[in-house]
Amino acid sequence: KIVPVIMAGGKGTRLWPLSRAAAPKQFIRFIGSRTLFQSTLQRVSDPAIYEPAIVVTNEEFRFLVAEQARELGSDLSGIVLEPVARNTAAAIAAAAVVAAKIFGEDAIIQVLASDHEIGVDRTYHSANLTARAAAEDGKLVTFGITPTEPATGYGYIEVGDILPSGAHAVRRFVEKPARSAATEMLAAGGYYWNSGMFMFAVPMLLAEFEAFASEVLEAANSAVSAAARDLDFLRLDREAFEKSPNISIDYAIMEKTSRAAVVPSVFRWSDLGSWDSVWKTGAQDEEENVVSANTTLLGTKSSLVMSHGPHLVVRGLENVVVVASEDAVYVGRMEDSQEVGQVVKHLESVP
Ligand code: GDD
Ligand code: MG
Repeated sequence: KIVPVIMAGGKGTRLWPLSRAAAPKQFIRFIGSRTLFQSTLQRVSDPAIYEPAIVVTNEEFRFLVAEQARELGSDLSGIVLEPVARNTAAAIAAAAVVAAKIFGEDAIIQVLASDHEIGVDRTYHSANLTARAAAEDGKLVTFGITPTEPATGYGYIEVGDILPSGAHAVRRFVEKPARSAATEMLAAGGYYWNSGMFMFAVPMLLAEFEAFASEVLEAANSAVSAAARDLDFLRLDREAFEKSPNISIDYAIMEKTSRAAVVPSVFRWSDLGSWDSVWKTGAQDEEENVVSANTTLLGTKSSLVMSHGPHLVVRGLENVVVVASEDAVYVGRMEDSQEVGQVVKHLESVP
């Protein structure tokens, strides 16, 4: 069976003010009745295919994870707690070491982000089967999404020849390219976006860590060895884990390995990373507005207006984002949605 590893430690600053340090986007009910983290858990709930998931998150979010899993009635293999954020490479290395301890050295893990909106249909299941076969053949497998715009927030994968598993070789992996490079790749064709979901055989993944990110692996190994168990929680040792470089799996491994493979995928996929993606994937009305309860729009078009707090009235505007939490309101142009993270950095720097 596949061991799901859910990464739920991101801060999600581009979705401020609904996504906050105390409750980042994956734990918020901003569309529908489930949180993105819960939808992710739900996707791996079939016991015929999956073992109970391992969740990796920051210590601060432990109760959110435990509570939201309990609410779904989901059994977890464990909740791995990071004492400090060291990005996804360290989180995945620690989870892989834990998976090997629980499920054996040869475990197959599927690494899932907790900020995606995914359409689970037949193509989703068949992509998973192909990815699993490729992982069993020793590949580091990603799922390729057909790009629709020169977005700079994703990894780009140049696709190569087909492999026996049905996956394709990866010629090149470019994480978060500059706008100009993204535009060139889109025009050239033959590229996919990295979905941010991966399928790995643990021994192969650890071998690539050893080769390309040995300091991360060393920190993760020692942090797991010296970890303290506390109910479902596995608290990684702070002193050991702190020593890991702060780097994402994409830069640390995927750009460097020659064992990457990609499964071209057509299931509905969206990284709900910024307000424009929430608007694009949301239920748009005739004026192309996406709104929540507690809002009134007059002569307003192509906008996202959401409130978890006061009643919002927006009049005579186009292509804007207006989002209110209980204690903060953000107003900006739709096209500046990628830069909201910088606003948060700025707010953190002013007393
Ligand atoms: N446990 C843990 N610890 N999880 C983390 C950490 C961490 O330090 N940092 C981020 N995460 C989680 C986030 O919560 C999210 O679920 C996932 O890891 C991916 O992190 P993001 O910060 O959302 O990454 P990204 O969207 O910028 O880029 C990645 O995803 C893109 C597609 O959505 C990359 O893999 C890109 O190549 C990819 O295209
Ligand atoms: Mg993301």
